Amino acid sequence: LETNLLKFKGYYFRNERFNINLLENTDDFEVRDDDVFLVTYPKSGTIWCQQILSLIYFEEHRKRTEHLETADRVPYFEYMFEKLDFDESPSPRLFTTHLPYYLVPRGLKNKKAKIIYVYRNPKDVMCSYFYFVNMLPIFKAADTIEEFMKQFLEGKVMGSLWFDHIRGWYEHRSHFNIQFMAYEEMKKDLRSSVLKLCKFLGKDLSGEAVDDVVRQATFESMKDDPLANYENVLNTRVGVTRREGHFLRKGTIGDWKNHMTVEQNERFDKIFQEQMKDFPLQFLWD
Ligand code: PPS
Repeated sequence: LETNLLKFKGYYFRNERFNINLLENTDDFEVRDDDVFLVTYPKSGTIWCQQILSLIYFEEHRKRTEHLETADRVPYFEYMFEKLDFDESPSPRLFTTHLPYYLVPRGLKNKKAKIIYVYRNPKDVMCSYFYFVNMLPIFKAADTIEEFMKQFLEGKVMGSLWFDHIRGWYEHRSHFNIQFMAYEEMKKDLRSSVLKLCKFLGKDLSGEAVDDVVRQATFESMKDDPLANYENVLNTRVGVTRREGHFLRKGTIGDWKNHMTVEQNERFDKIFQEQMKDFPLQFLWD
């Protein structure tokens, strides 16, 4: 197994900048009623939803009067990409996390603070992830989709097994104040998705403000926006890339069809059906 993965409490983290002190004491972490946690399995639309949340919450972001990295407005909970003192951060605090349901702060169970869980069809997640591990030297590269698919389906990747992540969160949803959002639904109708999020978050934005959010959250505008597309984060915090690549790679539904063979697809489907039987959330595959 690659050295840059760290198994902690049954879950694979990346070893780098992992905030082990925080994770060892999550139950002591004081959750505020107006905290928002964005929860995702990697490659499911994290950066996208970080941008949307930040635009919904911060007028200065919407109006472009204050220039901050989205990564800093909605920082990772379990990774320290910069020194942030969460206790000192002003409310409302927005966090990003890939944590499984059983590792988040217990305070979330009083159901005041909100959780947004973004999920994406796992074939696209896997293909996006394949490019990602090949882009960043902190991960073990995979020569072929076949090689990566094995790793992915065994859960030997940062984020562990996709099936466990989504099932765990879904099956424990009644313990939390949680809204599930599908990547594909966001892609097909961004405005409705933004409105759905605003409603859940209790943010009453004007039509014009919603337009501002939507305009700055499309793939095209994020791709061109260095504060949103993680290129700065890549260059200044992650360091070298192994090969040419971007966090905002393609941003489409169904790219797996360009990568998986018929046989791989059938094998994947079989496992999906076993693991996800009786699972009520629907997935859009193309
Ligand atoms: S990470 O590393 O876990 O934070 O990655 P994550 O942000 O979850 O996933 C990256 C994929 O999300 C796509 N993306 C978008 N798609 C549509 N619209 C917008 N605005 C958008 N922003 C990011 C990104 O392109 C990655 O998917 P792929 O399929 O690789 O292009």
